[in-house]
Amino acid sequence: MSEAVIHIDKLSKKYRGADSFALESLSLDIFRGEVFGLLGPNGAGKTTLISILCGLISPSYGSFTIQGFSYGKSATQLKASIGIVPQDFALYPSLTAKENLMYFGAMYGLKGRHLSTDVDHALESLGLTAHSNKRVETFSGGMKRRVNLLAAVLHKPAVLFLDEPTVGVDVHSKKAIMDYLQRLNENGTTIVYTSHHLMEAQEFCTRVGIIESGQLWRIGTPDSLISSIPGAKSLEDVFIDLTGKGFRDV
Ligand SMILES: Nc1ncnc2c1ncn2[C@@H]1O[C@H](COP(=O)(O)OP(=O)(O)OP(=O)(O)O)[C@@H](O)[C@H]1O
Ligand SMILES: [Mg+2]
Repeated sequence: MSEAVIHIDKLSKKYRGADSFALESLSLDIFRGEVFGLLGPNGAGKTTLISILCGLISPSYGSFTIQGFSYGKSATQLKASIGIVPQDFALYPSLTAKENLMYFGAMYGLKGRHLSTDVDHALESLGLTAHSNKRVETFSGGMKRRVNLLAAVLHKPAVLFLDEPTVGVDVHSKKAIMDYLQRLNENGTTIVYTSHHLMEAQEFCTRVGIIESGQLWRIGTPDSLISSIPGAKSLEDVFIDLTGKGFRDV
């Protein structure tokens, strides 16, 4: 691995009115070409971290850069470098899949015949060609999640952030999504995602970070974390060991 594409330096976040920090002096480097999994129990701070990196909320303290860009000095370049797949759908229900993607593409400054062709290719790559002219409100959860993902990658971001991309989707959509992410990664996209699916993270991630109470408890390859805990055979064993009394409500 080479250069840090994301450099995070002592990031902290205390929400207004909160007693404790949602993120506490968290430092982390993520390298180009990685699939980095942010794991941790409910309320650990995973969404808070991703939301800060995507510019949706501001940190209380600390700083970070993505591709060397920061929101202060080089916000436009930073925004062009990243794609965001939020947990909730960010689609227009009464527009068709293609219309939605044309809209998101235009938001990123893409236009014309190129955009239309790119959208067609994108829909095809996730098995949605037959549905491209149907309204999104008629789609299943898994289909919406696929369109949501495509909306985030039309502008070919260097770094893709996903917050629980496979929650509530059936095995078909899940496989389509994970295969697609794998292809994106093979073509050079750095992926940072949160998940509660530890087996999926174990297979898919180059490294994972285990977060609890806003702090990075462990970081490493799935194999190195597994071998660091005597008797552990999977990331699930590591997780149970670290979080003490089982999964709580993970
Ligand atoms: N808008 C907010 N205002 C106040 N507190 C918040 C806000 N969003 C999150 N928190 C708190 O910050 C902490 C971290 O929450 P966060 O949503 O980042 O956790 P998470 O790891 O994403 O959890 P989950 O696995 O449930 O998605 C929690 O204690 C949560 O209650
Ligand atoms: Mg979350």
